[in-house]
Amino acid sequence: MDNKFYVGYSSIHKLVKSLAHRLMESGFDPDVIVAIGSGGFIPARIMKTFINRPILAVGISYYNLDHKHMTHPQKIQWIDETEKQLEGKKVLLIDEVDDTRMTLSYCVRELLSNNPKDIAVLVLHNKKKKKDADFPPQITRYFAGLDIEDLWIKYPWDADDIDAHDRNEQLMLSGGTQSSKEQ
Ligand code: G4P
Ligand code: MG
Repeated sequence: MDNKFYVGYSSIHKLVKSLAHRLMESGFDPDVIVAIGSGGFIPARIMKTFINRPILAVGISYYNLDHKHMTHPQKIQWIDETEKQLEGKKVLLIDEVDDTRMTLSYCVRELLSNNPKDIAVLVLHNKKKKKDADFPPQITRYFAGLDIEDLWIKYPWDADDIDAHDRNEQLMLSGGTQSSKEQ
């Protein structure tokens, strides 16, 4: 379990709720959520419970549809016809993790080309590390649920055995070192 950071559905739900409160307190009232798939889908849907805004989904990946790894993140799915509706809108961009920041910054730049009024970036987890890309200066609002060390995060949607996953989260939270079967 060393060097892995387990997070369960319930913790994610609570983290998103706290992020929704921080968002409201900041005065940023988005018109639309843009979810970066696939990791951003479930966090974005939970956020909708608290702020009740529509979700647009985008797919950005280092892998194309033939599973080939590329040197830069690329669009595998985009907003297409609705893209122009972003003009003048306040966008809340949601992903699960800010790791290298390559995907997030690419997505922000693409969204900016549609002249939104403002974009806020929101992630569940930010890894405290040197990033490979920066956000453009237009991005002044950034919300991370948790800032964590550079560990591999185990999200519940990747779990084969969700009970073992949850046990590992509890072990981790209680400071235990033994890992349950789910790795
Ligand atoms: P960033 O801009 O958000 O920092 O993303 P980056 O390009 O660095 O991430 C590349 C892929 O690696 C992303 O998946 C991201 O979700 C995933 N990733 C990075 N760190 C972790 C981690 O600690 N745990 C897990 N589970 N995933 C991590 P992707 O290509 O967008 O795929 P998807 O899983 O979101 O579909
Ligand atoms: Mg992702």
